[in-house]
Amino acid sequence: MSSTTRPTPDGSSLRQTLAVLTAAAEDLGFVQSSEGDLGRLLRLLVASRPGGSFLELGTGVGYGAAWLLDGMDADSRLVSVELEDDLQRIARATFDDDPRVEWVLGDGSEWLREAVARPERFDVVFADTWPGKYHDRDLAMELVKPHGWFVLDDLYPQPGWPDGHQANVDRLIADMQSVDGWRTEFLPWGSGLMLCVRD
Ligand SMILES: C[S@@+](CC[C@H](N)C(=O)[O-])C[C@H]1O[C@@H](n2cnc3c(N)ncnc32)[C@H](O)[C@@H]1O
Repeated sequence: MSSTTRPTPDGSSLRQTLAVLTAAAEDLGFVQSSEGDLGRLLRLLVASRPGGSFLELGTGVGYGAAWLLDGMDADSRLVSVELEDDLQRIARATFDDDPRVEWVLGDGSEWLREAVARPERFDVVFADTWPGKYHDRDLAMELVKPHGWFVLDDLYPQPGWPDGHQANVDRLIADMQSVDGWRTEFLPWGSGLMLCVRD
């Protein structure tokens, strides 16, 4: 199944893709896929930037990518980075003929260090894993274009959080509310979101 299939007016193509990804995640016991509320927001953000470049840190099985690809036009590009092959291979198989995606299998921190040395910058960075969110966040934010978006989710307690993780989240929210050169808003919605726009 491919997101290059033109979505039907009732969104059934996307719904089918999400159903496939949900079933695959259940088979793997993977419980960290994004929620639909965030997906709808991501789809709007990318739809506002035709021909845009978008980055997802942490592919999982591709649930966020499904929403991103549904909002992207044909000239847009998505880079999605994931450490675990058994997760990302689900996304690769689901979207394998979509030329808009570059799937990167590897450690997000290593990828971020290489990416900041390259010229490409992104209209939206969805930082959905440890690198870019809880460490090396400065690198991920450096990759956002002026007036681009930096998006964080899962700021409310989630299944599978390690012990003591709430303190990391509290620090993250506090740090993000006073970052020079950015406007940030905590949105008490969905899984707990933070939306940030670069000056
Ligand atoms: C919250 S999930 C991503 C969910 C996905 N963005 C979505 O919308 O459904 C976080 C993902 O980050 C991956 N991950 C963990 N450590 C990583 C690292 N160092 N580099 C890249 N990915 C990592 C995990 O394997 C997991 O799939």
